[in-house]
Amino acid sequence: MQLVSMKEKLASYGQEHLLAHYDTLSQEQQAQLIKELEELDFDEVIEYFQRATSDLDSVGQKLDDKMNPLDDSQCGSIIKSTDEELIHYQNLSLAEIGAGHVGILLLAGGQGTRLGVSYPKGMYNVGLPSDKTLFQLQAERILKLERLAAQETGKSGKITWYIMTSASTVGPTQKFFKDNDYFGLSKENIIVFQQGTLPCFTFEGKIILGEKHKISRAPDGNGGLYRALRTEGVLEDMKKRGIKYIQLYCVDNILVRVGDPVFIGYCLSKGAECANKVVRKQFPTEAVGITCKVDDHYQVVEYSEITTKSAELSNKDGSLVYSAANICIHFFTLEFLERVVTTNERLLQHHVAKKKIPYVNEKGDLIKPSEPNGIKMEKFVFDVFRFAENFVVWECLRDEEFAPLKNAEGAKDCTPSYCRNAVLALHQKWLKMAGAEIISTSGDEAPLMTSPASEGNNNLDSNGKEVEEVVITEISPLVSYAGEGLEPLVSGKQFTTPLHLSC
Ligand code: UD1
Repeated sequence: MQLVSMKEKLASYGQEHLLAHYDTLSQEQQAQLIKELEELDFDEVIEYFQRATSDLDSVGQKLDDKMNPLDDSQCGSIIKSTDEELIHYQNLSLAEIGAGHVGILLLAGGQGTRLGVSYPKGMYNVGLPSDKTLFQLQAERILKLERLAAQETGKSGKITWYIMTSASTVGPTQKFFKDNDYFGLSKENIIVFQQGTLPCFTFEGKIILGEKHKISRAPDGNGGLYRALRTEGVLEDMKKRGIKYIQLYCVDNILVRVGDPVFIGYCLSKGAECANKVVRKQFPTEAVGITCKVDDHYQVVEYSEITTKSAELSNKDGSLVYSAANICIHFFTLEFLERVVTTNERLLQHHVAKKKIPYVNEKGDLIKPSEPNGIKMEKFVFDVFRFAENFVVWECLRDEEFAPLKNAEGAKDCTPSYCRNAVLALHQKWLKMAGAEIISTSGDEAPLMTSPASEGNNNLDSNGKEVEEVVITEISPLVSYAGEGLEPLVSGKQFTTPLHLSC
């Protein structure tokens, strides 16, 4: 496209400032900028901006009047289920895994800003005795699940692991898996793909120039998944492999039961096409979305959008009305995903985050603002729940399944030591239940460690120091996926800490 017609096009969208520094660019940079502008669908992104910002300051209030808690009939729970039911759910899933019908979707495109590392969060090592990273723990849980399915069904169906990355995480993630020989999984069953980006806007609707020849862009949120499933050929791949059921999770939860057969089995038993796994919310300001009904549709209301009034609403017994905390573990049938991707994706609302976005000013200088000066637009992965016809919720136990790595050491919770202690406490509990005796460094039987993920406990004082004895016991996922199979190995035996039970 000629420069003149590009100028005209930009003027018609009120975006002519994007060529303000054109004359000062090298030929290569000029070509790069024109290409980027040609490829951008202005109608689409400007429509996104207008929709996203139209009711920016009243999102929460608007939701308040329409929110309702979940119906009990829609919710299963690990506590309320009998052992027989849990085994039944598990066996339903293992049969599907054995038949190769289960795929796993990992969201790993986040930038890990709060944790403050420059590499993908999945590569983080929280300091377990094994020094395993989040990616390795997750890979080994998948491997173990395949083995459990093979044992149970005699069929060795493989689980395909789809990993969504972003521009900043794709390269290092691919390299990390390659350098680590895919942690024992088959290379062809790990598919790394990339989500898209969207331009950042000023509050007035101008697209921000991040460099004189480049638009400032940000990942399109974890709900960018649905577009990427289509554009990156992931749905096609799933169909080709005969995958029917998908469990999705986010990268930072160190306790995540990747491909959890109990959750998937519960969904299968209910004929659900979409489901959410939750834990009980701990306190009104906890930074978790809550699962509820809005206008008779199931939805997660994000922590950044819920009003204080709704967050604090309590029942007569003092428990929170909105207590079903989203832990970013979802279930979809492939049919549902296909429907969402082909018919609903464009309708998904963008959520707005006000940010400090570096920009090139009229003089051509790069300015790093000290106050928010613009917005990033993000889709949320759970916004497709409202399109589900049969949606269920499964509640699990926090100290067994949810300890996310969000913050750097020194923060109140969700730090590396919080995550490490959550694993150590859970593994000590498994060992104890399997009949092992754990002897601590003092020579006595070790007291049962309290999980930082248990209600109101984080084992750390305000300076981040551990305040009770930390019992170092780690079990490799290759030995036990969720505490099963330990009795023959440990019952009646004494072990001294630090203990790392590996194959
Ligand atoms: C998320 C949930 C929140 C939940 C909490 C539990 C969303 C929108 N919010 O919040 O409801 O209570 O986890 O821990 O899901 N990601 C991408 N691409 C992006 C942005 C994020 O892949 O553009 C991935 C991250 O890598 C991560 C996951 O999405 O795996 C969640 O992102 P994060 O920013 O950590 O979400 P939270 O704000 O903690």
